Amino acid sequence: MSGPLVVLVGPMGVGKSTVGQLLAERLGVGYRDTDDDIVTEAGRSIAEIFVDEGEETFRAVEKRAVRRALAEHDGVLALGGGSVLDADTRALLAGQRVVYLAMDVEEAVKRTGLNTARPLLAVNPRKQWRELMDARRHLYEGVATAVVTTDGRTPEEVTQVALDAL
Ligand code: S3P
Repeated sequence: MSGPLVVLVGPMGVGKSTVGQLLAERLGVGYRDTDDDIVTEAGRSIAEIFVDEGEETFRAVEKRAVRRALAEHDGVLALGGGSVLDADTRALLAGQRVVYLAMDVEEAVKRTGLNTARPLLAVNPRKQWRELMDARRHLYEGVATAVVTTDGRTPEEVTQVALDAL
């Protein structure tokens, strides 16, 4: 199997970066995050890209970043929470080892709150979270080879459960 050793998917704020870095350390491999790639390439924050160019443009940029990272990176790769919205991206994830880090809506609201740095949550977080999870849960589940619930777990515990699930 070529591609990353592990790909992490799941909603924003679930801890993909924290767990991804811990996982990479434990596995002795590198860590990469497509959001970071996008920010580096654009020289702007994700919020700025959303505001300046809109979500559609962001999704096109994200799709390219994910494709590139899947081809280049052989360690732990975390994808932005909305990457799975794209059907081609979901197809690329088939055959990869994909861990879905999950949390319930109340946990999501608690963790992210009213977050203006996350453009998709800037107005009514609870309602937006519910809609977002309803729209995406099955997409995450569809690409996942393992599902790890993060509710009530520390990042270290989540990392251990993810390692056990590999
Ligand atoms: C998004 C998730 C964010 C970022 C952007 C959109 C989403 O990434 O790509 O704000 O649609 O869920 P993280 O999941 O890394 O926060």
